[in-house]
Amino acid sequence: MEAVGTRVRSRLVRVVDGLAENGLAVVPRFLPPGLVEPLGAEVRQQWVSGAFRQAAVGRGTRRQLRPDVRRDHVRWLDPLDCSPPERGWLRTMERLRRALNRELQLGLLDFETHATVYPPGAFYRAHLDRFADADHRTVSCIAYLNHDWSVADGGALRIHLDGDAAGTFLDVSPLAGTLVVFDSGRYRHEVLAARRERMSLTGWFTRRV
Ligand code: OGA
Ligand code: MN
Repeated sequence: MEAVGTRVRSRLVRVVDGLAENGLAVVPRFLPPGLVEPLGAEVRQQWVSGAFRQAAVGRGTRRQLRPDVRRDHVRWLDPLDCSPPERGWLRTMERLRRALNRELQLGLLDFETHATVYPPGAFYRAHLDRFADADHRTVSCIAYLNHDWSVADGGALRIHLDGDAAGTFLDVSPLAGTLVVFDSGRYRHEVLAARRERMSLTGWFTRRV
């Protein structure tokens, strides 16, 4: 049994319970400041040094740049070649993966993840995190790295609770440390236009298909 602190365990329980009850969990202060700070500094530095590329939609032969759909920029993490803060993120998510498999028998095998930057004005229109030709993405996870975010800064994650863009929704502010986790096949969601630079880590627990 690995030694995991009480605080970590209670945060994992909140994610497990939210997923079990609603297929959705929003947990403020999920990431501790000791991880958020170095992650934020590193993503910022990688962004400034040009290590990101414009995000695309679809994959394989369907992959295409669609600035009408999304304008964020991403940098994929390589688990075999990552920095100490990135490793901290991967370790945290590995604990979550094991908790979800143990408590909910989800059979999650892997985690793919990228850092994300929305420059001012960027958005991501309503979508599901499932490719049309594959459903190996099972659980979506987003952790935010932005301090002092106010409603006037825009950039909320809008989760459509009824499956369609006309129904009720939940807006999540991309505040440093908050983790959002949801069933990838269930919730359509979008990122409203951000008025200042917006940084996050986005990842998916995957299953074999
Ligand atoms: C995504 C996504 C939401 C967010 O990258 O697929 O929906 O809040 N991100 O960054
Ligand atoms: Mn998404």
